[in-house]
Amino acid sequence: TDYKVLAISGSLRANSYNTALLRAAQKHGAGLDIEIYEGLREIPPYDLDLDTPQSRPAIVADLRERITAADGLIIATPEYNYSMPGVLKNALDWVSTDWTKTEGVPLRHKPIAIMGAAPTQFGSVRAQLALRQVFHWTESDVVLKPEVIAFRSHERFDEEGNLVDEMTIDLLTGLLTALVVKIDRAPQPR
Ligand code: FNR
Repeated sequence: TDYKVLAISGSLRANSYNTALLRAAQKHGAGLDIEIYEGLREIPPYDLDLDTPQSRPAIVADLRERITAADGLIIATPEYNYSMPGVLKNALDWVSTDWTKTEGVPLRHKPIAIMGAAPTQFGSVRAQLALRQVFHWTESDVVLKPEVIAFRSHERFDEEGNLVDEMTIDLLTGLLTALVVKIDRAPQPR
């Protein structure tokens, strides 16, 4: 396919397992053109007073445009205190609105694949559920299965951060294939 997908990691750290999972998605990704978003660190705290087409910070306007232009999204979320990191939730809040009813909601009806990694036994599963709740409100079109839960993540990546675990690679490919099916069925124009 020539579908363009924007991938967001909820972790800012250099050696993030979740960012590594997105790099693995680029490698094993069902022919998708996957761009990893680099701007998360620069997104300011959400402020409803600034959430208009005229007053949004430029980085937020840019993220909204990227999501609107993308055929689909991939989110890789760490789990912080049984939920998604605040920086990720904050960014999603900025792209979930259209108070003027003139621009459209970037996340609305967007095909989305969720994944996550953590060194713990439960491997981000609660954070992934929290993300699904967010996409309930936004009426996004989230892939339900397969679920990619890279629990005990330290056993699944090599020293350079390459995903080397066959089971997780298979799940990842399955998830991205399901995302392609969702994009195929998404209403036009996207
Ligand atoms: C964590 N971690 C964690 N892990 C988990 O499975 N459940 C949790 O609730 C938490 N809580 C938590 C809170 C905070 C503030 C931090 C910094 C970490 C551990 C977390 O899974 C681990 O740091 C991962 O490696 C984070 O993902 P990245 O950065 O490797 O992508």
